[in-house]
Amino acid sequence: MSKTATLTIDGNSYEFPIKVGTENEIAIDINSLRSSTSGIITIDPGFKNTGSCESAITFLDGEKGILRYRGYAIEELAEKADFLEVAYLLIFGELPTAETLAKFHSDIKAQSHVDEDVKKIIDGFPKSAHPMGVLSSLTSALVAFNPSSVNVDSEEEMYNAIVRILGKFPVLTAWAYRKRAGLPLDYGDDSLGYVENFLKMMFKKPSGEFTSNPVVVDAMDKLLILHADHEQNCSTSTVRMVGSSHAGLFVSISAGIAALWGPLHGGANQAVIEMLEAIKEDGGDTKKYMAKAKDKKDPFRLMGFGHRVYKNFDPRAKIIKKAADSVLSDLGVEDPVLDIAKGLEKEALEDSYFVDRKLYPNVDFYSGIMYRAMGIPVEMFTPMFALGRLPGWIAQWREMRLKKEPIGRPRQVYIGENQRSFKKISDR
Ligand code: ACO
Repeated sequence: MSKTATLTIDGNSYEFPIKVGTENEIAIDINSLRSSTSGIITIDPGFKNTGSCESAITFLDGEKGILRYRGYAIEELAEKADFLEVAYLLIFGELPTAETLAKFHSDIKAQSHVDEDVKKIIDGFPKSAHPMGVLSSLTSALVAFNPSSVNVDSEEEMYNAIVRILGKFPVLTAWAYRKRAGLPLDYGDDSLGYVENFLKMMFKKPSGEFTSNPVVVDAMDKLLILHADHEQNCSTSTVRMVGSSHAGLFVSISAGIAALWGPLHGGANQAVIEMLEAIKEDGGDTKKYMAKAKDKKDPFRLMGFGHRVYKNFDPRAKIIKKAADSVLSDLGVEDPVLDIAKGLEKEALEDSYFVDRKLYPNVDFYSGIMYRAMGIPVEMFTPMFALGRLPGWIAQWREMRLKKEPIGRPRQVYIGENQRSFKKISDR
């Protein structure tokens, strides 16, 4: 592989270094493009060909269906690790020892209280408010209750900010749900594990004990691990972009939540169930909806299909499909939309429209079915994704700040009017 790339414009040649990643990913480093060509830039809407950073956190190969956190295969982590272990790995780069993990968990627990005044903010939201909007607002509002900014050069301050958000975020997520469900805004139980405690905070009824189901805890743990990071996706890029202005961790995460909400990103898990339900209500005719998805005049898309980077299969979808089967059978849930989902998948995998465009089920295709079996309502699916993605956002924010990356500020090609004279309102 050559060490440079040559660009020729109007007979002038410019050399740019080639960077090679540890997995042999190749990039042309155009850092000096504008200065050496007197102002020429690249244009790449949707950043389909643009690397925004060098990162040591997550590797994915969309063609081969590979996803690794810090070098560890997602399949192995989902099988052998728990969510907090994976969170530590993503954020700090190495698997924790038993001692470090215990300290990490106890530091998170010590931060799991949320100022009681936050409840007044929640009171101000209508019950119908979407929990993603509530969660994004509350995460941002945390700044008011924890006003000191993080000195990123202090390892201790950085660590404290990280355990603070990891401690408070599950409480806010559970409260966003409980407000909607008309349940009191309770705290959890520090004697429980992170995921089990979260489930208790979600589902504990005012009267009566909460008994956790190990099958559900394990499945939830897996789901959170599978969502924990996905390199420079829309919400993570948002977190890095907002953080690059040196805005704090909480507000950067709040912006990431807003980005995740969209139906083309994390909101797809809600959209998938709504789509499957609609197909069921309409008589379960999957062929009709396959035709709609392929019709360019119809805006309908098969939700949960396709991915910006996975063009072969989404390794997370494989794990989730298997887990969904075992959770549903363990819980004795028969969900007709699971059959519709399997039918759609089978048809799509044999259909040239989907095969030619390399459209495969993504992580969200089966996650909603699992959440539903666990008793999580549809509008909480994307907040669950946010809870899983939190360690990834933190890890990416930390990496960006420690590397002292410059403020994110893309350029543009202006295609508007040339200079013109202002017309008085009476002359227009
Ligand atoms: N159903 C039908 N056609 C599709 C679908 C779909 N789900 N996804 C892509 N296509 C078609 C497009 O119409 C386009 O066809 P064309 O080449 O004939 O114009 C082609 O496949 C390429 O699609 P793009 O939109 O250009 O691909 P892009 O990489 O920009 O988008 C995305 C990826 C947004 C995920 C897209 O596949 C999609 O909208 N999927 C449904 C929403 C979804 O499931 N999102 C969750 C993503 S995973 C996550 O965020 C965790």
